[in-house]
Amino acid sequence: MNTPPWHSWLGPRRARRLSERFGTPLYVYSAPVLRNRCRALLRAFPGVGLRYAMKANSNPSLLRMVRSMGLGVDTVSPWEVQLALECGFRKADLIYSGNNPSDDDLRAVHRAGVLINLDSLSSLHRYGRMFRGSRVSLRVNLEVGGGHHPHVITSGPDSKFGLAPEDLPEAKSIAARHGMRIVGLHQHIGSGIFDPQLFLDALDPLLAFSEALPDLEVLDAGGGFGVPYRPEESPLDLAGLGSRVTTRFRAMQKGRKKPLQFLLEPGRYVVAEAGALLTQVTTLKRTRDRVFIGVDSGMHHLIRPALYQSYHPVSMVPERDGAALRSFIVGPICESGDVLAEERMIPMPEEGDLAIVGNAGAYGFAMASHYNLRARPAEVLIDNGKVTVIRARENYRDVIRRRDLRAKR
Ligand code: LLP
Repeated sequence: MNTPPWHSWLGPRRARRLSERFGTPLYVYSAPVLRNRCRALLRAFPGVGLRYAMKANSNPSLLRMVRSMGLGVDTVSPWEVQLALECGFRKADLIYSGNNPSDDDLRAVHRAGVLINLDSLSSLHRYGRMFRGSRVSLRVNLEVGGGHHPHVITSGPDSKFGLAPEDLPEAKSIAARHGMRIVGLHQHIGSGIFDPQLFLDALDPLLAFSEALPDLEVLDAGGGFGVPYRPEESPLDLAGLGSRVTTRFRAMQKGRKKPLQFLLEPGRYVVAEAGALLTQVTTLKRTRDRVFIGVDSGMHHLIRPALYQSYHPVSMVPERDGAALRSFIVGPICESGDVLAEERMIPMPEEGDLAIVGNAGAYGFAMASHYNLRARPAEVLIDNGKVTVIRARENYRDVIRRRDLRAKR
C-alpha cells in the first residue's frame, strides 16, 4: 500500500506505543489536521459563518478546538445544544436543524435562544402556538440532492426533510397567524458530495426562493463537502467551490436592503481525516475462499462500512512481507455484516498486530453503540507531540447502571 495520509501523525511506531499505553480499540485524533481543515474552510469561504455539524463528532475537546478556530455549530438535538453551550459556544453561533421535533425539543431550543430551522408545517404551527412572535428559519427541499449513499441524500422527492416550495404560502400564513418572523432559510442536500456543480445547482433555487422572504437575515446552505476515502479519489476543490459560492452570496447581498448572514454547516470535512480507529488483531481464520482478520473493533464502533458499504482505508502494523491475500477485516459482533473492510489485499498478519482504520474521525465514535454489550472505544488527541485522553474508556458500570439493574418488574 502507498503511504497512507495519516502516516505523518500516526505512523507504525506511534500506533504501537499508543496501543500499549491506552489499549485498543482506540480512536486517535490529530489536532493539527483538524485545525488545518478549519483553516481551509475559513480561507475558502471568507465572510461566511461556518457552523460545524457536531453530529459528525461531538467530543467536547474537539468541539472546543473547533470553537477556538472561530467556527460555530450546527445542532440537531437539545443535548447537542446543551453540550455546545457547555463547551463555550455562544448561542448566537449556534443553529438548530433537527428533524421531526417533539414539543419538548422545540421548547428546549427556544429556551436556549437558538435560531431553529423548521421543516414541516406541523412544527412551524406548534412552535408558533407555543412561542408567539418568535423568529424562525425554514428548511426547504428544493429537489436537488446528492450524497455518497441513498441514506444520506437529504433532498428530493423521497426525502423526509424540508418544506416543499408549494408549502411556502401556507408556511407564511402560519407564521403570520402566530406573529412569527421568517428570518432564516436553510437547506442541506446531502453528505459526502464531491461535485462542486451540485452545490451550485442547489444554491440557485435557494437564492431564488429567498426573494420571497422579505424579513430574511440568515441564509444557510448546509454542509455535505466530501473527503476522499479511496486512494483513487481526489479531494474536493474547496477553494474553487468557495470562490464560486461566495461570489453568488455577494451578488445576492447587493440587491438587498438588509444585510444577510450566510452560513454553511460542514461536519465531515472538519473531522473525517483528523481521526483514525486503532484496533488489534485478535483472531485469524482462513476459509476456502477468504481470509478473515478478526479484530477487537467492528460495526459497533464504526458502522459506516456495514450501514453504507463505505470504504475506509486501512494500514496494518507491522506491514508484513509475503503474498497479499484477499482479506476481510471483521469484528466481534454477532452479525455477518460486522465488517470494517472488505476484499483488501493484505499479507497474512499475525495475531497481536494492529490495524489502523483511517478517515474515521467523522461519524465514527458519534455513531458507536453498545451493541452486544461492548464498551465504546476510548479517544485520545495528539497535539504537539503530546497525547491526551479526551474520552476515557468505558467500564461495565458506565454501561450497566445499578438503578436499571435494580428496577423491579
Ligand atoms: N447540516 C445538516 C442539517 C445535516 O443533516 C448534516 C448531516 C450536515 C449539516 C453535515 O453534513 P456533512 O458536512 O458532515 O456531510 N452518517 C453519515 C452522514 C450523515 C449526515 C447527516 N447529516 C455518514 O457516515 O456518512
